[in-house]
Amino acid sequence: MPSAISEGFWGLVGPFLFLWVSAKALPPTILRLVKERDFGTLLSPRRLQDAWFGTFWGRFGPQVKINASVKVLPLLDGRVVNGKLLDKPAVPGLEGVCIEVGAGAGYWVDIFANKHMDSSSSSSSMGRTKQVTRVYGIEPNPNQHASLRKHIAKAGLEDVYKIVPVGIEDLDNPKKWDGKIEKESVDCIVTVLCLCSIPEPERHIRELYGYLKKGGRWYFYEHVQCSVSRYMKAYQRFINLFWPQFLGGCQLCRPTGEYFRQAGEWQNADIAAPWDAQWHNVVPHVIGVLTK
Ligand SMILES: C[S@@+](CC[C@H](N)C(=O)[O-])C[C@H]1O[C@@H](n2cnc3c(N)ncnc32)[C@H](O)[C@@H]1O
Repeated sequence: MPSAISEGFWGLVGPFLFLWVSAKALPPTILRLVKERDFGTLLSPRRLQDAWFGTFWGRFGPQVKINASVKVLPLLDGRVVNGKLLDKPAVPGLEGVCIEVGAGAGYWVDIFANKHMDSSSSSSSMGRTKQVTRVYGIEPNPNQHASLRKHIAKAGLEDVYKIVPVGIEDLDNPKKWDGKIEKESVDCIVTVLCLCSIPEPERHIRELYGYLKKGGRWYFYEHVQCSVSRYMKAYQRFINLFWPQFLGGCQLCRPTGEYFRQAGEWQNADIAAPWDAQWHNVVPHVIGVLTK
C-alpha cells in the first residue's frame, strides 16, 4: 500500500519535475545563442522556444525513447491489441512505404530498419514480414535536420529515408519541397509523441488519413487528455496552463483518439490506454493501430 501511495504522489508531482528539468535547459540555450550571435532567434519568442525545446529534448528525448520503446517496438510488430501486449503478432507489422510524422532529431529513425523484421514468422501475414521500402520523415524544423541525418546514417537508411522539410500542411505543395507523395499511396503512418505538438491536429490528422492506402495502417503512441476522473481532468488542465510554454508548444489536453475516429472511415480503429496506465497519470497515453 505505501508503494501505491508513493507511486500516486510521484505521478501527480512528476510533471513539475519535468517542467523544472525543461526550465534548466533555458539558460544554456540563451548562452549558446549569445555565443553564436544568433540575435534573430534570441529576439523571436517562437524561435527561442524552438531552440529551448531543442536543448531540452536533446537531453531528455533519448531517455523518453528508451522508456517508450517497450511499447512502441511491439506495437510496430503488431503485438499490441486493445492496449494489451501479446506474445505473438495479431496484426501485420510496419512495411512498405511509410510516413514518420514529426521525426524531430531522429531518435526513432531506427524503427524503420529492416533488422526489426520477424524472420520467424515469414509464412504468416502478421508481424514484420515485409521490408520497409521508403520512409518520408516529416520534420519542418530545420534545426533538427543535422541530427536527423546522423540518425538516418547510423541506421543505414540513407537510401530509404527521405527528410520532408515541411509541415503536414505543405505535403502536397510542390513549391515548398522537392518531392511528392501521392494521396492513397502510403502503406503505414507512424506517429510517436508528436500529435501533441503539431498545430491544428484535427485538420492535420484528416489530411494524413488521405495519404493512407485502403488497407493501410496508422501506428500511434501519443499522450492525450485525462479521462479517468473530473479531478484528474481539472489537474491536467491546470498544469497545461504552463506546460506548452516550457515544452515547445506541447499540449496536454488533446482528445487525439477522437480526432483519429473522426478522420475518416476505418476498417478497424484500435485505440486504447496501454497496459500500465494508472489513475494518477497526468500525461496519459493512447496506443494502437488504425486500419483504413
Ligand atoms: C515532441 S516532438 C517529437 C519528436 C519525435 N517524434 C520524438 O519523439 O523524439 C514533435 C515534433 O513535431 C514537429 N512538428 C511541429 N509541427 C509540425 C507539423 N505541422 N507537421 C509535422 N511535424 C511537425 C516538431 O518540429 C517536432 O520535431
